[in-house]
Amino acid sequence: MAVYLSRGEEQTLRFATQYARSLKPGDVVLLEGEMGAGKTVFAKGVAQGLGIEDDITSPTYAYMNDYCGKLYHYDCYRLSSGAQAQALGLTDYFYAGGVCLIEWARNISDVLPENCKKVTINILSENAREIIYD
Ligand SMILES: Nc1ncnc2c1ncn2[C@@H]1O[C@H](COP(=O)(O)OP(=O)(O)OP(=O)(O)O)[C@@H](O)[C@H]1O
Ligand SMILES: [Mg+2]
Repeated sequence: MAVYLSRGEEQTLRFATQYARSLKPGDVVLLEGEMGAGKTVFAKGVAQGLGIEDDITSPTYAYMNDYCGKLYHYDCYRLSSGAQAQALGLTDYFYAGGVCLIEWARNISDVLPENCKKVTINILSENAREIIYD
């Protein structure tokens, strides 16, 4: 486990771009942290690091955005159970060979794969964040 101290959104983006290099296809990463911590900012950085040029937007209403099978970005904030995620077909993508980034994974904890990676972003002040990662 390691810790990175980010002093602004740009630093989080850059850190996540580097972090993406440690990822392998099929890795599932749980992005933990409260609302506004910077999970979606981190996802944007990872997408950049994976060479994805699309604009990364929060998948809050769609639950999951698919970036060409290379990256699946989830926001489970509005899901209330793993069964619901399963019924929507969202769990299939955990095993589809792309990198999965999951915001609010705790809402579907009973259907997550084993051996997920974890990135926890803690808010220290308006612009400072502590990023704890494997
Ligand atoms: N060091 C930092 N790293 C990341 N974001 C930062 C930082 N400092 C300030 N911010 C701001 O915090 C906000 C993070 O928003 P973001 O949408 O990424 O949060 P989130 O964790 O995805 O929230 P939600 O749970 O609502 O989806 C942005 O407005 C961003 O500009
Ligand atoms: Mg978000």
